[in-house]
Amino acid sequence: TIDVKGIPGELGYFTHDPSFGTTASCESEITFIDGDKGVLLHRGYPIEQLAENSNYIETAYLLIHGELPNAEEFATFSNIIRRHTMINESLKKFFDGFRHDAHPMSMMMGVVGSLAAFYHDGLNMNDEEHLMVSAHRLISKLPTIAAACYKHSIGEPIVYPRNDLDYCENLLYMMFSVPCEDYVVSPIAAKALNLLFILHADHEQNASTSTVRLVGSTGANPFACISAGIAALWGPAHGGANEGVLTMLDEIGSVENIPKFLEKAKDKNDPFKLMGFGHRVYKNFDPRATIIRKVCYEVLEETGTQDPMFELAMKLEEIALKDEYFVERKLYPNVDFYSGVIYKALGIPVSMFTVMFALARTSGWVSHWLEMMADPKGRIGRPRQLYKGSPKRDYVSLDER
Ligand code: ACO
Repeated sequence: TIDVKGIPGELGYFTHDPSFGTTASCESEITFIDGDKGVLLHRGYPIEQLAENSNYIETAYLLIHGELPNAEEFATFSNIIRRHTMINESLKKFFDGFRHDAHPMSMMMGVVGSLAAFYHDGLNMNDEEHLMVSAHRLISKLPTIAAACYKHSIGEPIVYPRNDLDYCENLLYMMFSVPCEDYVVSPIAAKALNLLFILHADHEQNASTSTVRLVGSTGANPFACISAGIAALWGPAHGGANEGVLTMLDEIGSVENIPKFLEKAKDKNDPFKLMGFGHRVYKNFDPRATIIRKVCYEVLEETGTQDPMFELAMKLEEIALKDEYFVERKLYPNVDFYSGVIYKALGIPVSMFTVMFALARTSGWVSHWLEMMADPKGRIGRPRQLYKGSPKRDYVSLDER
């Protein structure tokens, strides 16, 4: 707490916590993290158990409702999510307005935000049921939009959702099927995607979730809130890291070049950072990274992929973890160090990696948004600042300056 007297006015005391390293911005019952012990719980359930036994839609239900669904609740929820997968035909026209080489995350921000223009009538922000329908629409429609972004980027027609398929199968189908050709969704790919999506579903007050909450605290339309979350996620320090890891591994190219890149990462005059390394909260290990490394082995084996990038990533991890700089600063691989290698093995293009993260995180974003909206004590989020600028002075006219 810093006395801010000495700057104009008697402003009293503020807590100055740049980058919110030690500030809890809200109370929440959704996700617990113990960064020192590498613990991650969703509604009390360890991430390891969810990864082993659950599926993405069940985990989404857990995040939103606080309990695991029974069989009937799961069937009802799954059906609701399947039922909302279609997008308005007019929305399809939005894609024609984007350049063919637009980054899919830029299209996601725009198109998801534009859903606000389609679903505003009758949206009563005081009615829990209305809010829940928005949450369902977001979870259901984002894969359809994501696949359409991908199809636009490769110049193929948009594929309509097939509601006999489950969430991950449908996503793969919409991305990879081509009209008039049979496409069978690979069960290995659907299983791996389910697991990756569980691991990315929520992570308490990370930058994008905090953004969703801050925008939501103004009473903004839910689709606008999630679009803002997508924007925050895109940055390379956050969700953009999964794309960054593959680009970095590509640049490193071979094991001999690793020391050179480690030196670059340590050089404070060089903006380069080891992508997929470090985390604000985890200072021992990221439990998601431990799971993902194991899955990486399995997926590469099951898909028969021999990826030199995986070998390179493992070598990079091994060398970095012995390096004093990374040891001292407790910098370990995070969830996205290996996720890109898996996505690549599943045939998902690098530019879509962060989009995959956004789809998974949607369940977390909407859970936090719903929790915040249900709080009767909720107030608009409004941080203060420490003013460091000029003291009060008088305006000088242009001809006297
Ligand atoms: N490579 C090299 N040095 C690093 C890295 C890295 N990846 N990460 C942190 N450091 C250094 C910092 O420069 C700092 O050094 P200093 O003490 O000499 O000044 C020290 O380690 C502490 O790091 P902070 O910057 O305080 O860490 P912060 O909590 O602010 O940032 C972040 C965390 C953004 C994840 C950071 O580690 C980073 O940029 N990593 C690479 C990008 C990445 O993988 N992001 C994904 C995060 S996980 C997710 O969103 C899913």
